[in-house]
Amino acid sequence: ASLKRFIEMVPKAELHVHVEGALEPELMLALAARNGLPPPYPSVEAARAAYHFADLQSFLDLYYAGCGVLRAEKDFYDLAMAYFRRAAADRVVHAEVFFDPQTHLGNGLGWEVFMPGLARAAEDAAAQLGLSAAYIVCFRKEMSAASANDTLSGALPWLGRGHVIGVGLDSSELGNPPAKFADVFDRAARLGLQRVAHAGEEGPPEYVWEALRVLHVRRVDHGVHSLEDGALMAALNASRTPLTVCPLSNLKLKVYEGQLEARLTQLVGSGLVVTVNSDDAAYFGGYAVANYGYLAAAAGLGVAQVARLAANSFEASFFLGPGSGGEA
Ligand code: HPA
Ligand code: ZN
Repeated sequence: ASLKRFIEMVPKAELHVHVEGALEPELMLALAARNGLPPPYPSVEAARAAYHFADLQSFLDLYYAGCGVLRAEKDFYDLAMAYFRRAAADRVVHAEVFFDPQTHLGNGLGWEVFMPGLARAAEDAAAQLGLSAAYIVCFRKEMSAASANDTLSGALPWLGRGHVIGVGLDSSELGNPPAKFADVFDRAARLGLQRVAHAGEEGPPEYVWEALRVLHVRRVDHGVHSLEDGALMAALNASRTPLTVCPLSNLKLKVYEGQLEARLTQLVGSGLVVTVNSDDAAYFGGYAVANYGYLAAAAGLGVAQVARLAANSFEASFFLGPGSGGEA
């Protein structure tokens, strides 16, 4: 019981959360109605019942379909504020939040629709909830390097504190190794942006090596498949490159099916800078506290180890780090 209480109360930074993945079925259906769109599901219960995934792609298909209800600036504000309120209730005091501009641009929206809504939510989260927030633009890995580069151009008016502090890579991993985005990540570096990438979620350790060596990422998102490469684990350890691990996401997307608890136990015991994150809480069934709780049970953690994970989240954040986005 005291471990549960500690997990609830310890201050946390959340570093791997997609704002679109915080779209709970209740808000999804409300936004569909508000925007005069057909509801993606007949009911909240039907949406939740549909959230059973075989792998990453089967999740992404529903996640992108859900994004279709986001049409107006206020939709993005409401979505981000719902996440910030829920995160603050879990004692998240700092969040670095991914969003997918290409998805919204593809739905016919411009930066002037989604970005002011997201930015205003970050300001209100700081003022009303004491939660500092910044955004990381994700490029979709199955889309072209040219599209990623155009997306970075669109972000240029929005760089800086409370707005966009970095770039990342998300979406379909297998068959889309990170090196395709070398040039756009170089450009992001020259702009003073932080770089992260999803790698080693479903893909092999080679994709993590590429993210490190070609994209020069400061953190690896997921990265759980690094476990299969001892030299990679040693390199991540030596450089103190954090992994943003998302336990309930891995569970629901059947990463390491049948062996997940053993793999998570190995990761937490590896000495790497492991952090705990919710990824897409509305789809995977839990926010920060639920992810810490699941991991603590799966890996048999006590208070001291949970405290270490929470401390790691601040070390791994761009809030405190050298060259942090806070200075951008
Ligand atoms: N992996 C890849 N792409 C994503 C994810 C994820 O976990 N969540 C949202 N987009
Ligand atoms: Zn993710």
